Amino acid sequence: MSTPRWFTETKEGHSEWYIERFRTMARENDLAGEARLIDAMVGRGSRILDAGCGPGRLGGYLHAVGHDVVGVDVDPKLIEAAQQDHPGPRWLVQDLAEPGLPALADAEPFDAIVCAGNVLVFVAEGTETAVLRNFRERLAPDGFAAVGFHVNRGLTPDQLDAYAADAGLRTDLRLATWDVKPWHDGADFAVTILRPA
Ligand SMILES: C[S@@+](CC[C@H](N)C(=O)[O-])C[C@H]1O[C@@H](n2cnc3c(N)ncnc32)[C@H](O)[C@@H]1O
Repeated sequence: MSTPRWFTETKEGHSEWYIERFRTMARENDLAGEARLIDAMVGRGSRILDAGCGPGRLGGYLHAVGHDVVGVDVDPKLIEAAQQDHPGPRWLVQDLAEPGLPALADAEPFDAIVCAGNVLVFVAEGTETAVLRNFRERLAPDGFAAVGFHVNRGLTPDQLDAYAADAGLRTDLRLATWDVKPWHDGADFAVTILRPA
């Protein structure tokens, strides 16, 4: 299996720096904006996958407001931080590109998948379709995946649409921000809602 760019394009100690950065920000800021949009889009007590969850800020919020949350990330240090800082969800080490997502073997289909914070930019190059295919296979028939990333980091919205189509997903909605500003040419960020085709 290819190594995610999260490991190959960052320096030694990056995981520890990232964990501490978000712990500091959590004390000072609102860190759950993306999760508040997801919460508004699903029914109460939904099943939600936090895909590439990092240290757990989004899954932690979604669990706190009553959803059944599973978070997966390829970085064991970040999963350990999620377990410490946000007890409640199931936090699992899993490469999102691995066929079938074996860590989720016993999981029921998800009503929503949140894939925020540039995760798709950090997966190993060439594995984007494999990741999205796993999303497709794990979604309930009326479920959706919300994918957010900066568009100047090697992945464009058009490329995402093509990868998604190959994976059996269709682009339902594109926004420029997680607080629902409309998509427009020149936007530097894209939030895309994908549904089973
Ligand atoms: C910038 S962080 C975002 C973390 C979290 N989604 C958030 O918004 O706070 C990117 C995350 O993608 C994860 N990641 C990258 N490639 C991955 C893969 N192939 N499978 C699972 N997680 C991956 C990294 O480990 C890292 O936690």
